[in-house]
Amino acid sequence: MLGRLGDTAITFDELDSDLFIGINEIKLCACGTSYHAALASSYLFERYAKVRTSVEIASEFRYKEPLMAPDTLFIVISQSGETADTLETLKMAKEAGLKTVTICNVDNSSMVRMADATILTRAGIEKGVASTKAFATQMAVLWMLSLHIASERKTLAQSEIARHMAALREVPSAVKVEDELHERLKRLSKRYLHGHGFFFIGRDVFFPLALEGALKLKEISYLHAEGYPSGEMKHGPIALADPGLFTIALMPENMLYDKTKSNVEELSARDSTICSISPKPFNLADDFIPVGERSHYMLEFFEMMVVVQLLSMEVAIRLGNDVDMPRNLAKSVTVE
Ligand code: AGP
Repeated sequence: MLGRLGDTAITFDELDSDLFIGINEIKLCACGTSYHAALASSYLFERYAKVRTSVEIASEFRYKEPLMAPDTLFIVISQSGETADTLETLKMAKEAGLKTVTICNVDNSSMVRMADATILTRAGIEKGVASTKAFATQMAVLWMLSLHIASERKTLAQSEIARHMAALREVPSAVKVEDELHERLKRLSKRYLHGHGFFFIGRDVFFPLALEGALKLKEISYLHAEGYPSGEMKHGPIALADPGLFTIALMPENMLYDKTKSNVEELSARDSTICSISPKPFNLADDFIPVGERSHYMLEFFEMMVVVQLLSMEVAIRLGNDVDMPRNLAKSVTVE
């Protein structure tokens, strides 16, 4: 945020002022956790910048003979800037004559060198294979970028932009999880070492966060986990509900709480073991992880992000896994 989140405006010195001229669509392309950041930000770009936004998994995009229009701004998101599939899609976009932007954590990486413009996430070197602070800084940059474009396109009132900017300033405190909460996560993680699987569920931007929470748990604990939009339960997944199915429910107060709550109640009624992460107590939860009352759903997003990362870490530690270097994984997937 330094140098970008100003007193009255969000600026990106890295971006030419004419970058968005003639742009009617944004296409975001990435892999893994970076894809989850892309998916979450797509809600923000459409909601605030009022620009049609699509999201692609790079390994699929590169072979599907995609239609690419010159009025599309192609944004790749990558911690390493070297992921083979994402790099290839960036080449495809450039060859098709699209304006390209890289959101990346490693300066002078291949994607940084190739794109028309780069926004560095400045997370510092991320050593752990499982992306955590890189994801957090990707989300901070993408939230700011959605507001920056909204300001350029005048699709959001200045008062609304100011409200978001005030929330952005609270992100550092939202991600500071107090020791008491961390101790609680450590204690309850002992209950989640078995079972036949985990559902991470959420709505809106909390659906991509559910995907990310499931990926974190898979990556470092080696337990099976899936992320789902909570509204999808009745379309099949609820067949798995029983006491051995652990549901990690992301229940923000400021985004579709009642809708999410009713979805979780469906799972509880079928005896799934429920772990609710919410600012609001939920009496049907078998476990409850309280997060702070926040003025903005994105602040709930950032706090719940740290909670699911820490929960995965505590489960993995109890299982005796190497949290930093999980089996079968590499920090940067530079091959197909
Ligand atoms: C995330 O925890 C994983 N390490 C993995 O999914 C990663 O996000 C993906 O391989 C993309 O890497 P990149 O961000 O460096 O392109």
